[in-house]
Amino acid sequence: MGEVVGERGVVLRAEGLEHSFGVIRALDGLSFEVAGGELYGLIGADGAGKTTALRILAGLMKPGRGTARIAGKDPADARSGVRELLGYMPQRYSLYGDLSVGENLRFFAELFCLDRRVFAERSERLLAITRLARFVDRPAEKLSGGMYKKLALACALLHRPEVLLLDEPTNGVDPVSRLDLWELLYGFVAEGMSVVVSTPYMDEAERCHRVGLVHHGKLLLEGAPERLVGGFSGVVLRATGEMERVEGLLEGVGAGVIAVAPLGGSLRVVVAAEAAGGVERELRGAGAEVERLRPNFEDLFLARAGEVEGAEGRGGGGRSDLPLRR
Ligand SMILES: Nc1ncnc2c1ncn2[C@@H]1O[C@H](COP(=O)(O)OP(=O)(O)O)[C@@H](O)[C@H]1O
Ligand SMILES: [Mg+2]
Repeated sequence: MGEVVGERGVVLRAEGLEHSFGVIRALDGLSFEVAGGELYGLIGADGAGKTTALRILAGLMKPGRGTARIAGKDPADARSGVRELLGYMPQRYSLYGDLSVGENLRFFAELFCLDRRVFAERSERLLAITRLARFVDRPAEKLSGGMYKKLALACALLHRPEVLLLDEPTNGVDPVSRLDLWELLYGFVAEGMSVVVSTPYMDEAERCHRVGLVHHGKLLLEGAPERLVGGFSGVVLRATGEMERVEGLLEGVGAGVIAVAPLGGSLRVVVAAEAAGGVERELRGAGAEVERLRPNFEDLFLARAGEVEGAEGRGGGGRSDLPLRR
């Protein structure tokens, strides 16, 4: 990766990105950096601004304000040679549906002017590791969701990019194929590739070296997932009982209850540490069963989003019930 890794090993930099579509503020000062060989997760709910950020980093659009840099270069500058360093997999419709698996690969090879021999070698390897070799003649539109994403990934990798931008590669993919895709990514990262992957799935945060939580176009939190969860000071309760009564009670408790989210037939309640004892007593007093759970990444996110929305006067009493996915 020698020549690509710039100062402090940073290969990708987003600095103060702002962008609006009419009155919609998609990005509101988004900044983050990714080092060589790092797997960075951009995690956020639908509409958080992930796709807009990745499109800017891929050089497909210019931000209203702020700068994007790949290996120190402007990705929107087609003459800088930066395109060869970059692989980008859009959120959807990146392939030609009526072309076969093999034809799609060939199309991307021509786009990057790969010679025949190089293409033959690389496509063979990519078809093998994605286990798509058997389906080489199948039209892309006839592939399952997971296979389609793997083909899109293979197409984005044909020219051996050093920085790979993946927009929700696991969205709409079955759990087994999701794991498959992550395994593939680990392989590329181990070879020194830098990967930015966006996802709405909170449980995928733990799979990244570092994550940035995007909310309303900016980062709410950033860091190594285990360190972020380890530093979380809140208490997480599972409350089971007559739901309307429990919910009503939590409404009444007010301050101290940071977030409430459904958890099977129960409620997952994130509470400030100093309020936890009191909330537990009240819930039990109302006939609910209460159990303490180990905090996870989603709790952290809900708590932080609740804080921010509370401060901005958006959510009700600092609580948040954002539509994240698990
Ligand atoms: N081309 C567009 N025209 C108008 N609004 C857009 C466009 N693209 C995105 N948006 C809006 O910008 C916000 C951020 O969108 P997006 O970057 O797609 O978020 P995410 O990928 O996290 O779901 C959303 O409110 C979305 O509706
Ligand atoms: Mg998106």
